[in-house]
Parts: sequence; C-alpha cells; structure tokens
Amino acid sequence: MRAGTLVPLEVFTRMDPSLLRNAGEQTTRNLSIFAPVSPPAESIRNLSILVFAITGFIFLVVEGVLLYCIVRSRRRAAGETKEPPQVYGSKPIEIAWTAAPALIVFILTLVTARSLWEINIEPPSRPRASDQTLLVTVVGRQWWWEYTYESYNGKKLGFTTANELHIPASEPGVARPVYLSLKSADVCHSFWVPRLAGKTDLIPGHPNSLWLQTEQTGLFVGQCAEFCGTQHANMLIRVVVDPPPVFEQWLDHEASPALDNPGVVVGKASFLAQTCVNCHRVRGTSAQGTYAPDLTHLMSRRTLAAGMVPNTPDELRRWVDDPQQVKPGCLMPAFGLSGTDRDLILRYLMTLR
Ligand code: CUA
Repeated sequence: MRAGTLVPLEVFTRMDPSLLRNAGEQTTRNLSIFAPVSPPAESIRNLSILVFAITGFIFLVVEGVLLYCIVRSRRRAAGETKEPPQVYGSKPIEIAWTAAPALIVFILTLVTARSLWEINIEPPSRPRASDQTLLVTVVGRQWWWEYTYESYNGKKLGFTTANELHIPASEPGVARPVYLSLKSADVCHSFWVPRLAGKTDLIPGHPNSLWLQTEQTGLFVGQCAEFCGTQHANMLIRVVVDPPPVFEQWLDHEASPALDNPGVVVGKASFLAQTCVNCHRVRGTSAQGTYAPDLTHLMSRRTLAAGMVPNTPDELRRWVDDPQQVKPGCLMPAFGLSGTDRDLILRYLMTLR
C-alpha cells in the first residue's frame, strides 16, 4: 500500500518551499507514515494498516447493522405498527458480544507489543570499532535542535552542530544503525520524521532514545510534534541521509575547528567583541557559548532558524539585524548593531564554511 499523502508543510509554517527540494530527491515533501524507509517506520506502517483494517471492519459491521435497523424499523403506514419481537437476557448474545471485543483487544495488544519490541532497540552501551553505528545526542530547545555527534564506527567524536542532522546510508549487507539519545533543555518537544521513525518525546530530565536505519539517501523532513511554545510550528527537522563516503567527508569537516580566514580579521574581532559569544560557539575561537546554535560551520547548513528560511546572505542579514522579524519570540534579540559592525560580522559569518 502506498497512499503517499502529501502534507504541504509550508501551509503550517513560514518555511520556504524551495527548502523542500533536494538534488535527485523527488519525495522530500512526503511526510506520510505510509511511505517508510526505515525499519521502525515500517513496523508502525504495518501496525497502522492492521489496526485500520480491524477497526474499519468493525465500523462497517456496526454501521451496517444500524442502517439495517433504521430501515427495518422505520415508521410504516397506519395499521402496520407491529413491534419486532423483544428479546431479554439472551445468553448466547451476551457471550458473543463480550468475547468478540475481548478477542479483538487481545489481538491488538499482542501486535502492538510486537511493534514496540521491534522499535525500542536500546543503543549499544559502548561503541565498538567497525560496528558502523552512529550515536548522536539530540537536545530539543526552544525552538531548534542541537546535535552532538558522540561516536561513529567506534570512533569518539564529541562535536556539536544544529538543525541539520546528517546520517550515513546503509547498504545491502552493511547496516549502519543510527541511535539518537533524546533530551530537552527546556520544555517537552517531540522528534518526528515520519518516514524514518515514530514520534518520540524529548522530556526534561528523562532521556529517551530512538533508532533508525535506511538505505535511501536524500533529505527527509520532519517537525517537532509536541506543542512547545510560540514557535513550535517552526521547529523543523531536516535529516540528510548521505552515501557513506560523503557522510565521512562531512563528519571530518564538521569535526574540525573553524577555518581562519585572514580576509576577515576585523569582522572576526567585531564578532568576538559582541555579546554573540555569550550564547554561540565557534570552535577554534574564544566564542564558547553553548546556549545557542554552534556556528563553527554555519555556512555548511542549507537553512537558518531551524529550517524556516534558506541560508542565503540576504536571509542571514535579516536574521542578524532582527531575529524577531524572522522568528517572533525566538530567544535571540536584535542587538541594534551599526551598519558597519553588522556587515563586518556578516562577512565573518559567511566564511564559516
Ligand atoms: Cu519543540 Cu514543539
């Protein structure tokens, strides 16, 4: 079954529709749980179809009997007011309508338990060399996603990035499972990329975990699925599944400190002199804030503001000028920078590739 329902994401959010396109990937706008590409999402799809089938059958039977009764017992012409035979306390009927629902609930409980068993796979307690496993800690924040890459293939990593999660594709015979440890820095959020895995909450003080694995490369989009404040609808998720060599290249690049570009020494000094550094981090500089997105490789991301707008010079300028115009209520205020300072800082930020 392939319903392939398309939910126009831009209807709900201010997201630029161009951000839903990705080279060679036509199905990016697809947010349907009926088009899974990862084992947990497949389990959920199979369970949903079974539940829809059973409950659909019950619906048809109940509505059928109802319609039959309405037609059968409708008001007739005068003189034809005979009531049907009235039955009281029939044992076989009592047994039938107790046993049948109990059996149905029992079956649904069993298949649900099996799906939970398939989906709830705990991350390995310690990464082993060449296990092809990626471990990432995801922290939900108002209103963006922080990703700390813990380890890949047994190698310890420990760098942090934001909003765009890159994972390696599996290949026939080589599984590359991805385990996300889900935490929250403030309120409850929920991580949901429908084609990759089920909805899993990020709860303050209670880490959850999520497992996914796919052979299909490309961009998969999702959405925070738990109301978490004014910009909840703009807390978008982008998961990029890369072929393994591309992923490893990305990983090496992302793990390295910021490139020092001699052309923007003044811009860098201006950035470091501002309060930006209290919240943002640029690895390799004195900016070591951890409250806001890590900017070390800012320009390697396609979007700003958790997937809302494309990461272009114009949008970046709008953002630095006044984030409240782009994402009202977000925790970064407008700093009222002079035009010169702003341009210097922008020029510096644009070298953070
Ligand atoms: Cu985060 Cu809704």
